[in-house]
Amino acid sequence: MEKQKILCVGLVCLDIISVVDKYPEEDTDSRCLLQRWQRGGNASNSCTVLSLLGAPCAFMGSLAAGPISDFITADFSQRAIDMSAVVWQLSGQTPCACCVVCPPTGSRTVCLYDTNLPDVTAADFSKVDLHQFKWIHLEGRNADEQMKMIQQVVTHNSTLPPEQRISISVEIEKTREPLYQLFPHGDVVFVSKDVARHFGFQTVEAALKGLYSRVKKGAVLVCAWAEKGAGALGPDGVVLHSDAFPPETLVDTLGAGDTFNASVIYKLSNGGSLQDALTFGCRVAGAKCGFHGYDGISEMLRNM
Ligand code: ADP
Ligand code: FRU
Repeated sequence: MEKQKILCVGLVCLDIISVVDKYPEEDTDSRCLLQRWQRGGNASNSCTVLSLLGAPCAFMGSLAAGPISDFITADFSQRAIDMSAVVWQLSGQTPCACCVVCPPTGSRTVCLYDTNLPDVTAADFSKVDLHQFKWIHLEGRNADEQMKMIQQVVTHNSTLPPEQRISISVEIEKTREPLYQLFPHGDVVFVSKDVARHFGFQTVEAALKGLYSRVKKGAVLVCAWAEKGAGALGPDGVVLHSDAFPPETLVDTLGAGDTFNASVIYKLSNGGSLQDALTFGCRVAGAKCGFHGYDGISEMLRNM
């Protein structure tokens, strides 16, 4: 049997990344140090990282035919990311983000145009053969539809013995009310510091303890907090922590969270402990902040 894949459902977009030595003033005209196009979007970036880690993976999200999606699909192919679940929309534009990466401060400022391309629906999801997957990760977006997708996975799982069931993870990154309905529907739930702060929590530990009642019985809640590392809380009630692994020089923090999520999923889906997964997530995400893009992950793995 072909090795089962990890499916990531969510956004793919074009990132046009300008690297600057100083964040530009409004209404000025300046030069940047470097500029590149990169395939972006949380779920799409997590696929990039999974593929670099050596995990067979697939992406599900929307695209519209045109030069931007040509660039995106070429990159998916080059990285051996299965895109057979991509939904080709007949109306709307492929999302595009202007990203300003500022190494001296470590900031990444994103302005995304993502308004008129329809998201994938539960009806689209029902056409996907779930037998190919061991893990499905959903980036919280159109949560009402995503709830129905998760229900389909639950129904599929109910026909299988426990060891063959698909694990489900969800990412709740944006502070949007409809996303919070996803909390009780992941075996692993990634909550961002933005959401944690929105609920009034100022530390990882406070967020994990304060939000744990929202996840389902037996689930794991994970919270990353940039240079403070990350924490996780599972059913045993013990708060686990990993420090961050800051690179020698901060270069590019764009997609650090997506790198962290992918690395945690990679470890857990290969039977690693929660502590191992957390530490590995911080190690890979920290290293990623030390180079542009994601390709440096291969070299990092060779040196580990
Ligand atoms: P994002 O804002 O991209 O969603 P986070 O800020 O939550 O990501 O960071 C995810 C993980 O990336 C953190 O847990 C940490 O391990 C790593 N990370 C992010 N920023 C830094 C940094 N400045 N130094 C070291 N590690 C970092
Ligand atoms: C990084 C990222 C970028 C994209 C933006 C969308 O986490 O996925 O690739 O432009 O966030 O919010």
